Amino acid sequence: MQDWNPQLYSRYEDERTRPARELLARVPLTDPSVVVDLGCGPGNSTELLVARYPRARVIGVDNSKAMLDSAQNWLPSVDFVAADIADWVPDVAPNLIYANAALQWVGDHEVLIPRLFGSLAPGGVLAVQMPDNRAEPTHHHMRALADESPYKAAIGDSSAVRTDLLRIQQYYDLLARDAAQVDVWHTVYQHPMDSAASIVEWVRGTGLKPFVDPLTDTLRAQFLASYEQRIDSEYPVRSDGKRLLAFPRMFIVAQRPA
Ligand SMILES: C[S@@+](CC[C@H](N)C(=O)[O-])C[C@H]1O[C@@H](n2cnc3c(N)ncnc32)[C@H](O)[C@@H]1O
Repeated sequence: MQDWNPQLYSRYEDERTRPARELLARVPLTDPSVVVDLGCGPGNSTELLVARYPRARVIGVDNSKAMLDSAQNWLPSVDFVAADIADWVPDVAPNLIYANAALQWVGDHEVLIPRLFGSLAPGGVLAVQMPDNRAEPTHHHMRALADESPYKAAIGDSSAVRTDLLRIQQYYDLLARDAAQVDVWHTVYQHPMDSAASIVEWVRGTGLKPFVDPLTDTLRAQFLASYEQRIDSEYPVRSDGKRLLAFPRMFIVAQRPA
């Protein structure tokens, strides 16, 4: 996959940062010493952590050079580390591991989630938010189109392009036995978007990337035009001329016993 584009990703920064704030609001820690932002992206979620915990050592982890450069530029005093979450191990047990909109890019959650939770200090918190939108028209149509010729040859198995999330009850089960408390919930955001093209631009910065990155410029333009037509018919114009983008997200906050 090509590297992330921090400018494109940040175009909907307010909307993308709202779940990050709502996740952080549920973290029951007042004065943690070590806080890790896993999949920190361009620094938007890291900035929230620095603001809430000004006395903590905050560390951002990501495997995108472009995202890390952008984050370091935004928050020069934070330590940003290049690592793959799949095999990242903290050098000191963190009080908070926070992962907003990142773990959906990493596989094998049955192993990953307990491993991250087990790496926390006593009383530490794992806080995770992931888009739960694979059944939404935006994501159904990227897979459906990818299964058609001529895209299929370049994209491969469309169902394997994104990690399948577990059900929310399974995350609860993975954590509850070893936790002091586990809080899991869903929120469906309804984002007013200017046009079908804006919806395409939104997903182009994230979920659509692995589908269109392998395509040639010509095929990519063709794919995006057909995709936009489908989005146009799935998201009708509302009374103010906008389209409502329904965006389900899953939240998990689990605390280790002290
Ligand atoms: C959708 S962005 C989320 C950014 C930010 N946390 C936020 O709240 O908006 C996902 C980030 O996860 C990073 N990422 C994806 N897979 C990763 C992996 N295996 N290891 C480390 N970072 C990863 C991407 O580079 C990207 O910066």
